Amino acid sequence: MKLGLVTSNAGKLRELAAALEPAGHTVAQRALEYPEVQAASLGAVVEFGLEWLAQRHAGEALLIDDAGLFVDALGGFPGVYSRYAYDTIGPAGVLALLGDGAERSAEFRCVLGLLLPDGGRQLFRGSCRGRITRTPRGNGGFGYDPVFVPAGDERTFAELPLAEKNTVSHRGRALAALAVYLGDSG
Ligand code: IMP
Repeated sequence: MKLGLVTSNAGKLRELAAALEPAGHTVAQRALEYPEVQAASLGAVVEFGLEWLAQRHAGEALLIDDAGLFVDALGGFPGVYSRYAYDTIGPAGVLALLGDGAERSAEFRCVLGLLLPDGGRQLFRGSCRGRITRTPRGNGGFGYDPVFVPAGDERTFAELPLAEKNTVSHRGRALAALAVYLGDSG
């Protein structure tokens, strides 16, 4: 299936294309803006976005992706505010909030929203437990990748090759569910 990914984030586009193209789907960036409402959950943000797109882009197959980093010791912050926190205090600010604290567990979550040409909508979720580093490491990925180590690894997301990040990440898990739903059109 030909899917339009509504995002300005090139990192997300790379991860989606790497996961879906082997199954015969194509993913192209769709330069549309949709309102990201401030809501209490990623799912609510995605549902609102799908509704908005459905009213304006009927007949297209579109994907949206909303993700967040939930830090246990900060009560889940930045969570649904991850983009705002990234643009203001940045990953260094999140490290500063944690200070020297030993409790550094965190979870990345991703919700993918699919709008089908017939107006159908589906949500796919994925999460990844891990911990926040004391200093940023690695040049790959994007966003908070340099400060997050997935459980069972010593490398940050920014130190993993893209294909490896996709096998364990929140987005990779949501994408695996989406790929099963779409089936193989290759
Ligand atoms: P968004 O609202 O889904 O675009 O993402 C919220 C914030 O989390 C942005 O600052 C992103 O850069 C960041 N983010 C989203 N997904 C990831 C990821 O897979 N790794 C690291 N940071 C991410």
